[in-house]
Amino acid sequence: LSPHRLKGYKVLITAGATREDIDPVRFISNRSSGKMGYALANAVLAEGGEVILISGNSVLPPPIGAQLMPVYSAQDMYEAVMFNIENVDIFISTAAVADYRPAQVATQKMKKTVQSELSLPLERTTDILGEIAKLPQRPFTVGFAAETHDVANYAWEKLHRKKLNMIAANPVGKNQGFDSDENTLLVLWDGGEQDLGYGLKQDLAIDLLELVIKRFLLEKNP
Ligand code: PMT
Repeated sequence: LSPHRLKGYKVLITAGATREDIDPVRFISNRSSGKMGYALANAVLAEGGEVILISGNSVLPPPIGAQLMPVYSAQDMYEAVMFNIENVDIFISTAAVADYRPAQVATQKMKKTVQSELSLPLERTTDILGEIAKLPQRPFTVGFAAETHDVANYAWEKLHRKKLNMIAANPVGKNQGFDSDENTLLVLWDGGEQDLGYGLKQDLAIDLLELVIKRFLLEKNP
C-alpha cells in the first residue's frame, strides 16, 4: 500500500501536445500522446497528492481524482498554468509544448498557389517551464528533456540554464518516447543522477516520483 507521502500537497502536471493553428483547418503539433504525464498524474494520486493536470491534445481517459483542464495551444497552456500556480508544491512539465507558432493565423483556409514552395513565418512561444522556474516563490520544479542525440549533455545544460530542481531526460525518435507505452529515463539534479532505464511509462512514473518525493521532502526539511 502507498504511504500517501504527498497528502496535503498540490502537484501541477502538464501533459500532451499543444496545437498551433495555421488556418481554420490546419495546425502544427507533435506526436505526444499524454501517456507519460497521465502516468505521473496517477502516480501522484496513488501517493495521496492533489493533482491539477493541464493537458494538450490527448485521447486518454482522465485520471480519476485529478482536476483535468484541457487546453489547445502553448499560449492556452501557459495561461492555464499561471492561473493555477498559486500554492502548487510541485510542478512537473511533461507536455510537449510547441517552441514556435505561426506568426499569423489565417482566418480563411489557405489556398494553393502556382508557387511550388511556401514559407510560413514562425514566432517563439512562451517557455512555460522557464517562467515557472523564475517565480520568486516557485514550486519544486521538474522539467523533461526530449532529445534525439547527446541526451545527458543537453539535459545537464537545460537543468542548469533553466535552474530546475530536477530534469527527466528521454531519448526520442519515431518509435521512441513519444506515443509509445514505454520510455527510457535518465534523471538529473544538482549533485546527483539516476538512470531509470527502459520500462513501461506507468512504472517509470512511479520510479521518477520516488526521486521527486525524496528531493522535494529533503528541500522542505533539510
Ligand atoms: O506524451 P507521450 O507520448 O507519453 O510522450 C512523452 C514525452 C516524450 C512527450 C515526454 O516524456 C517528454 O519528453 N516531454 C517533454 C517534451 C519536450 O517538449 O521537451 P523539450 O526538451 O523540447 O522541452 C524541455 C522542457 O521545457 C519540457 O519540460 C517542456 O515541457 C518544457 N517546455 C518547452 C517549451 C515551451 N514552450 N514550454 C515548456 O514548458
